[in-house]
Amino acid sequence: MAREAYVNGRFVAHDAAAVHIEDRGYQFADGVYEVVPVVDGMPVDEKDHLDRLERSLRELSIRMPVGRRVLELKSRELVRRNGLANGLLYMQVTRGVAPRNHAFPGDGVRPSLVMTTKRMDFAAMDKFRDGVGVITAPDLRWRRCDIKTTGLLPNCLAKQQAAEAGAYEAWLVDDAGNVTEGSSSNAWIVTKDGVLVTRHADHGILRGVTRQTILKLAAEADLGFEERPFSVAEAHEAKEAFVTSATSFVTPVIRLDDRAIGNGKPGLLTERLLSVYRRYAAAGSDPAETEARSAAA
Ligand code: PDD
Repeated sequence: MAREAYVNGRFVAHDAAAVHIEDRGYQFADGVYEVVPVVDGMPVDEKDHLDRLERSLRELSIRMPVGRRVLELKSRELVRRNGLANGLLYMQVTRGVAPRNHAFPGDGVRPSLVMTTKRMDFAAMDKFRDGVGVITAPDLRWRRCDIKTTGLLPNCLAKQQAAEAGAYEAWLVDDAGNVTEGSSSNAWIVTKDGVLVTRHADHGILRGVTRQTILKLAAEADLGFEERPFSVAEAHEAKEAFVTSATSFVTPVIRLDDRAIGNGKPGLLTERLLSVYRRYAAAGSDPAETEARSAAA
């Protein structure tokens, strides 16, 4: 089956999909994106991802390229056309194509919408169940990390630094010595008292959809959690650590820089949250369940 992409209203061959060189996404990273996990052919937490997409666009005064329902239908159609069972749906909206000028173009310019899918082998992800290493790196980003923009250069630099150190992720550290989040994931620790800690969602981090779901699932399971800053020193002393994102679900962290976390093995709470999340994500493949969840929200 030939892979297709969706570009400004049309399904096109993935290899031939293109936007104009004067697209402001290309020139200025003037755009936003979403990455939605797809499990058994169904987008997970679709509503939350679309809510965040709309919020990111609003914060940057970019119009929605199409109505919300059209976005839902076209993205699902792309998933179907590509026969995507398990993987990722990528959506990107930019301010559109206009002669290069920093200030916004006039209202006549139409936002660009691009969507692609990518296959992911969840069985292959299991190799991360044994835990991953993370390095720390300075957080060099701007002060609106709550907006999911395509301006990801500091994130790419940090991830590359991690890759070169043989680590899975880089935890970004602010000027106060606190971990903000990962270069493409949210950062969590479990204290010696068994309390889950992740940074509060202000402008300093992305309010991860997986993060929100884990907080919801933790509350349902009566697990104690705190949304607050934690320092690198506190993380070194933590009993457990993990990262969450659309691409890594819940991934145990067993090493931070050159020190083992806890006993150097995935923590029990982390493993529990991973299995609870996997069950939750798989339930999203049931359309009735998804509709019920959307209706309830
Ligand atoms: N990244 N923080 C950052 C900086 C991220 O880029 C991401 C996700 C997250 C986790 O958010 P969510 O749970 O909604 O995936 C946190 C995506 C996966 C990416 O850029 O590929």
